[in-house]
Amino acid sequence: MEKLVEQTHQEFEGWDEFYTRSVDEKLDFFKSSGRIFDVIYAQQFDREFLNYLCDLADAIRLFAKTKMGQKKLRHLLPHRRAMLYFVQPSTRTFLSFQNACHILGLSVSEIRGTSTSSEVKGESPEDTIRTFASYVDLIISRHPEAGFAEKTAWVLNQTERPVPVLNGGSGPDQHPTQALLDIYTLEREFRNIGGLDGKKIAMVGDLKRGRTVRSLSYLMKNYRDVTLYYVAPDIFRMKDDIKDFLKKHAIPYHETNDFESVMPLVDAIYMTRIQKEYSEDPSSETDTFPQFHFKTKHLSLIQPHCAILHPLPRRYEIEVGVDKDPRAAYWRQERCGMWIRAALIAYIFKVDDEIFEEFS
Ligand code: NCD
Repeated sequence: MEKLVEQTHQEFEGWDEFYTRSVDEKLDFFKSSGRIFDVIYAQQFDREFLNYLCDLADAIRLFAKTKMGQKKLRHLLPHRRAMLYFVQPSTRTFLSFQNACHILGLSVSEIRGTSTSSEVKGESPEDTIRTFASYVDLIISRHPEAGFAEKTAWVLNQTERPVPVLNGGSGPDQHPTQALLDIYTLEREFRNIGGLDGKKIAMVGDLKRGRTVRSLSYLMKNYRDVTLYYVAPDIFRMKDDIKDFLKKHAIPYHETNDFESVMPLVDAIYMTRIQKEYSEDPSSETDTFPQFHFKTKHLSLIQPHCAILHPLPRRYEIEVGVDKDPRAAYWRQERCGMWIRAALIAYIFKVDDEIFEEFS
C-alpha cells in the first residue's frame, strides 16, 4: 500500500497539535491518492462514498451466495494480512471484521487485551503500534481511549510502513464503521420507500456516552430532510458538540424524555444501552431507565414501516418479545456489519473495481 507520506504530515507540528485540529483540517491526512486510507471519524464519509460502499456491500453479499462467488472473493486478497487489536470488549465488531477479512481471503491475527502484549513490559504505545505494522497490512483497533486509532494512524504515517488503520470504536467518542453499517441497514430497510432521505429517526438511551449514536448523527448531513429525535434521560442527553454540528448543517433535531410520544412519529428507532463502563463508579449506576425501553406493547404504537435498530449488545432496552416482529431490524443490522466491513476492506485495498467488473 503506497501512501504519500511526505505530503500528509508536513503541515502539522506534532501529534498534540494534530490531535487538536478540526476533522475538516485532517481529512487529507487520512487519504491517499484522493481515496480514504485510514478510517478514524464518521465525518470522513460523504454521500457519494456511502452510496458506493452500500452498492459494493450488496455486490459482495450477492457474490457470497454461491460457492463459486465465495471462491472468487477469497482470491481477491489472500496476499494481505490484517491485525485485530481489540483491547475493549467486543463480540459483533470483532467477529464481523474477522469474517469480512475471511470473505476476502485476508488472514487475521489478534490481540484482545493489553495483558497478553508487550505493553505490560513497559513498551510504549508508539513502539507497539510500529510492531503491529511490521507484520500486517491493515490494523483494525478498538480501544477505550478516544484518540488511540488516530494516534496509530499518525505514528504509522511517519514510518516506512504506513498501513491503513480502521477505528473499530474509540472510547465514548466514535464508532465510524458501526455508523456505516447503520446507514447500510437503514437504506436497506427503507429501500421500498425512498431510502433514508426525508426520514425521521429517534435515537434513544445513553446518547451522552454512546459512540454509535454520535457517529451516526454526523452522517445525517449526507441525507436530505432528515429529522432527529434525541430521547434520553436528562443525565444522558446528547452532548453539545454533536448538537452544534447539527445546527451548523441545518439538520433539525428535537430533544425529549417522553419516548412514547415520539414512537408514532418516526420511521426508525435506534435503541442504545446505558454505557456504564464509562462511569467512574459503574456499580453506583443501578437505574435501568425503564421509561426508555422498547416493550412488546409499543409495537402497536409505531408505524407499519418503522425499523427498530440497536447496535447490540442489548440488556433490557428491547423486550425479547419484539424480536419476532418484522420491524425488528437489529439481527439483520448485525449481519449488515459483516458485508459493509468487507466492502470497506475491499475499497481500502482497491479491489472494488474488480468486484464490480466481475459482477456486471
Ligand atoms: C456498541 C459499542 O461497542 O459501542 N456495540 C457494537 O459495537 N456493536 C454499542 C454497545 O456496546 O452498547
